[in-house]
Amino acid sequence: MGFADNIRLLPNRTMRSLLISLSHRRSLARLAVRSPLTRPVVARFVAGETLAQALPAVAALKRAGLRTTVDVLGESVTSPEHATAAAGRYLATIAALSERGLDPNVSVKLSQMGLGIDSDLCRANVMRIVEAVRGVSGFIRFDMEDHAWTDATLEVWRAAHDAYPQVGVVIQSALRRSSADVDAIIAAGGHVRLCKGAYDEPSTVAYRTKAAVDANYARLMERLLLSDLHPALATHDPRLIAKAIQIVEREGLGRDRFEFQMLYGIRRDLQRTLLDRGYAVRIYVPYGQEWYPYFMRRLAERPANVGFMLRAIVKEEGRRLRGH
Ligand code: FDA
Repeated sequence: MGFADNIRLLPNRTMRSLLISLSHRRSLARLAVRSPLTRPVVARFVAGETLAQALPAVAALKRAGLRTTVDVLGESVTSPEHATAAAGRYLATIAALSERGLDPNVSVKLSQMGLGIDSDLCRANVMRIVEAVRGVSGFIRFDMEDHAWTDATLEVWRAAHDAYPQVGVVIQSALRRSSADVDAIIAAGGHVRLCKGAYDEPSTVAYRTKAAVDANYARLMERLLLSDLHPALATHDPRLIAKAIQIVEREGLGRDRFEFQMLYGIRRDLQRTLLDRGYAVRIYVPYGQEWYPYFMRRLAERPANVGFMLRAIVKEEGRRLRGH
């Protein structure tokens, strides 16, 4: 039995925790990013390492009728210079999208903007991006990181949303607090992207079973759909998508009242089916060199991806050794 098979035998929860903990390892990130072996596998989930590579991917999605939001990969920066440089990459991205007639819609992690260093620095970086987005009548959404960041992220969101209403935020159904957060955001007239949550959270703050996370998603989704604040339902889960459609049809809600969102490279069949049925679907398109933590979270969501990755690496290495 090979390493790949042994890995596959780990229970899903253990595997998920292992992969999420590996996602924080900077030494592994350096190794993975330098290795040519990981490229073909990563390309499934990441639209390129540079803006020039990502733009054609965004344009192709637009031609296919899909909406997009672009994420310039990076998180948990440790120096103010890196945070400011990351904000600069967003400014360049927004300008390039707008110049090419592509949707100036971006998703940003606040730990990339310096939230872990100094909240004033983070706000200054964020407001530069918000102003750029406002200048092209675009949209910006703050991604949600693990529960240690929730309060601070919502605080920055409130200030930014006061300045420009087209600033959205993400809520995770895995967190026990999310019901109260959704109520507060609805009261403030905010736009929520609802997701399950990609982090390995303790039971003190989070639901730890798929059934509980999904049940909370269904509850929050219903509240958001009825709120009429254009929620984004971010999931690839066919059961929750069917439930959303059921609510929309039961309540006679227009299809312009919400959108489905999915990640680049995941369930492309489902993206197409929803589009063909007349629903709005937005694809989250990540690009950049700092793809490692994002990629590891995608592996953690579906442990079968690990086998897929290992097989692709073995194939690539075989090809290299044979001199192809
Ligand atoms: P679930 O994990 O139950 O998967 C349902 C089905 O989808 C699987 O059976 C499989 O077919 C498919 N699938 C799911 N993940 C896959 C993968 N990685 N590879 C292949 N197939 C896969 N999280 C967060 O904490 N903060 C955030 O800001 C965001 N932002 C965000 C934006 C968008 C647009 C999406 C779609 C998701 C996020 N997420 C996120 C991630 C989210 O929290 C969650 O981890 C993933 O979406 C996976 O959960 P599903 O809802 O798809 O369900």
